[in-house]
Amino acid sequence: ADGLASIRSEDLVVNRTTTPKPKPALSELLFGRIMTDHMLQAAWNVNTGWSAPSIDPLAPLQLHPAAQVLHYGIECFEGMKAYMGVDGRIRMFRPDKNMDRLARSAQRLNLPDFEKVEYLECIKELLRVERDWLPDKEGFSLYLRPTYIATTPTLGIAPPSAALLYTIISPVGPYFPTGVKPIKLFVDTRHARAWPGGVGDCKVGGNYASTIRPQVQAAALGCQQVLYVLDNGAEGDGIVGESGAMNVFFLWRRKDGKKELVTPPLDGMILPGVTRDTVLSLVRSWSEFEVAERPIRWREIEAAVAENRMLEMFGTGTAVIIQPISTLLKSDGTALTVPFDSAETSRWIDRKPGTTYGAQKEPTTSLAGR
Ligand code: COI
Repeated sequence: ADGLASIRSEDLVVNRTTTPKPKPALSELLFGRIMTDHMLQAAWNVNTGWSAPSIDPLAPLQLHPAAQVLHYGIECFEGMKAYMGVDGRIRMFRPDKNMDRLARSAQRLNLPDFEKVEYLECIKELLRVERDWLPDKEGFSLYLRPTYIATTPTLGIAPPSAALLYTIISPVGPYFPTGVKPIKLFVDTRHARAWPGGVGDCKVGGNYASTIRPQVQAAALGCQQVLYVLDNGAEGDGIVGESGAMNVFFLWRRKDGKKELVTPPLDGMILPGVTRDTVLSLVRSWSEFEVAERPIRWREIEAAVAENRMLEMFGTGTAVIIQPISTLLKSDGTALTVPFDSAETSRWIDRKPGTTYGAQKEPTTSLAGR
């Protein structure tokens, strides 16, 4: 369009490092600390369009100190994973969903469109270059971080005229240092991570910046994450949103005795998680119990726990995968605890190999050549 260059995977240039790093031991893989040897990048300019994408040795970026990203947080990103299959082939988990969401986040920030399919082809090539970094061990994966920043050197709050789209990779194990053990959430009604008309449904850096402080306060109370409940004058009966790094699900028995899996709806206030979507599709295909995406009031959670109707609570996300939740700690110091049936939940995480899920489309993209 416009006679400007677009991203084309056939233009991809690969410059391999001559000094690859030694691969870390699995015990060193604290989430996101170690990066692989290469990065994929493509630069955009309003006058010329996209540069040819390239895979280069991982290196610090050179940015003008006035670059818009540094001042106004014009940044969005994705988190996506590649796994080693039992057949020795590398597969990405529903990467087209992440490309779609990155494009939507970019649009919200007025960053230029990019060719999603072509860029994903470039990411696959990056994975081929880095394949030896993928730990061949259950529970481990490569976490890919496509990142999109406005690089225009101006203090003007204006549409970017220069941008950089890059992807780095981190080999990862469990997100929480405690592993897949149930975690505690602090129920935070004082801070909001999203509001109507905001960017809560986009994966923009600013959404995460504002969660650090609440998270530190929660950690001081022994909680690994925050559950955002938008109180909005509802006097203790706010609307349940999400957790900083996860969407949240509740499996409960309704008052009519029926089992129901419930999660907040995509109302613009929560991130439309790919794992969330996957859980919903899988569970619907099982037809074992009701599934609902609807606003959840805090009082419903309290009542379900008090009346022993709460069966399970868990979070979903690319980084955390499926994360059991045992406890919701309130600011008055009282806690709701749900006895955790690990046998039940291990089924969420690992249904028998070879199980087919109704009419579900094959959720993976295989990488040729591995
Ligand atoms: C994810 O990739 O799952 C995220 O939400 C980002 C962050 C938790 C690392």
